Amino acid sequence: MKIAIGCDHGGINLKPQLIEVLKECNVEYVDFGCFSNQSVDYNDYAVKVCNAVVNKECDLGILICGTGIGMSIVANKIKGIRCGHCSDAFSARMTREHNDANVLAFGERVLGVGVMTDMVKAFISTPFSNGERHVNRVNKIKALEEENFK
Ligand code: RB5
Repeated sequence: MKIAIGCDHGGINLKPQLIEVLKECNVEYVDFGCFSNQSVDYNDYAVKVCNAVVNKECDLGILICGTGIGMSIVANKIKGIRCGHCSDAFSARMTREHNDANVLAFGERVLGVGVMTDMVKAFISTPFSNGERHVNRVNKIKALEEENFK
């Protein structure tokens, strides 16, 4: 498994700790930046990470900003991305299991390292349930994308 990761300046302090979690889990990653605490636009990093997921360069994406909200709003504008904005391991597991989320977004200013660690482990280790009702709902999301992203 390969994970695309990205942050803005609001997530720059938590990203090294995210990388430690991925290394501990023996998961490959590609770091799309940013790489300093200079103010940047979260939009640009969300797009880089999501493109890597849509192009299948990476299997999943993880985005960090101050709250995770800006990143998740941008990510969910990209065709093929289902981004779960989470603050706990239960939601991260459920967004894989029920929504087949391919990107996780969270906020450095919201979470501690312990919660982030459990959440990321849950996200990368949980498969989509493939239950009929969940497949049906994800297919409806895809149909909506086809209607709205021309
Ligand atoms: C940056 O100050 C902050 O607005 C950003 O990291 C994020 O929280 C936006 O949603």
